[in-house]
Amino acid sequence: MKIVEELKKRAKKIDATIILPEANIDKRVYLAGKEILDKKISKLIVFGNLNEYDESFKSKDCTIIDILKYGDLDKFANDLYELRRAKGMTIEKARELIRRPDYFSMMLLRAGIADGVVAGATWSTADTLRPALQVIKTKSDKPIVTGIMLMVKESAEPFVFADVSLIENPTSENLSDIAISSAEFVEKVLGVDPKVAMLSYSTKGSASSEMVDKVRIATEMANKKSNYLIDGEMQVDSALDKATAKKKGVSSEVGGNANVLVFPDLNAGNIGYKLVARLGGYTAIGPIMLNFNKPVNDLSRGSNVEEIINTICITKLLV
Ligand SMILES: CC(C)(COP(=O)(O)OP(=O)(O)OC[C@H]1O[C@@H](n2cnc3c(N)ncnc32)[C@H](O)[C@@H]1OP(=O)(O)O)[C@@H](O)C(=O)NCCC(=O)NCCS
Repeated sequence: MKIVEELKKRAKKIDATIILPEANIDKRVYLAGKEILDKKISKLIVFGNLNEYDESFKSKDCTIIDILKYGDLDKFANDLYELRRAKGMTIEKARELIRRPDYFSMMLLRAGIADGVVAGATWSTADTLRPALQVIKTKSDKPIVTGIMLMVKESAEPFVFADVSLIENPTSENLSDIAISSAEFVEKVLGVDPKVAMLSYSTKGSASSEMVDKVRIATEMANKKSNYLIDGEMQVDSALDKATAKKKGVSSEVGGNANVLVFPDLNAGNIGYKLVARLGGYTAIGPIMLNFNKPVNDLSRGSNVEEIINTICITKLLV
């Protein structure tokens, strides 16, 4: 697909090292890593022993780390303890966690030894994101991390769907931040003008309830905080179809032209992107986590090799 190839080309030009903590425990991650190295798309760090890897991984672009023999393991355990002691972490717990590939990856990333992490082919989303939220944390000018999905299809404009993977029941404030972060992604990574629809089952007051108010207030907040084109609350048909938008009183350019869909909660977002992928023939790239201090991206446990390669490329674009 043209847009995917374009993003890959741009990612290849960025000099960055991505950690793949599951290359030695998952065949798909191994094959993705091999292709990344063979095609010189990125430098990598993988874990395990030399004899678990073939020649591709022995190139100068790849570092293989045996976690238990890593020179700074004790230092990392102490750093983790210091970082989390106020939250109840003991030094014993830190020494135990640092031996795990998920926490070890985050400490390598934090120490500047790599530029990004792609993980989750064998772990749940929560198990990938919790260590990242605890160790890497959110950028200082961003209140939350959000997980978006890039939806692409041949000969069609791409969409961003948000939040589809992290924030279960966002407040209005959360939704406004999700909208702004998604708009920034569309502008910076896709290079197009974002048009953000704040989705609901109501359009411009056609229904009234707490659920609708949440989205209406979020829209007001987002517009106060940014100059992006953000409108709502609106139903998804108003976001996608100009005639419907006009009939239902959406006068902004977002009506019928939206390229960012902000869903009112994680149920809607997660179900929504899967419907569009399964019934609409779109390919879902992500989830792409926005606003971590350094990029960490979560793989679906159903990911194939191509999807893992795409996620590595997107991670490089966020460095
Ligand atoms: C990611 C997730 C596991 C974090 O929840 P948790 O384990 O209960 O952890 P907590 O709520 O204690 O949060 C841990 C830390 O992350 C921070 N945090 C949680 N969500 C955050 C967000 N969206 N942005 C920034 N920080 C966040 C908390 O403030 C906390 O920080 P602290 O410990 O330094 O004070 C939880 O949000 C979750 O399960 N989300 C759904 C993920 C999922 O299953 N998705 C499936 C669809 S793909």
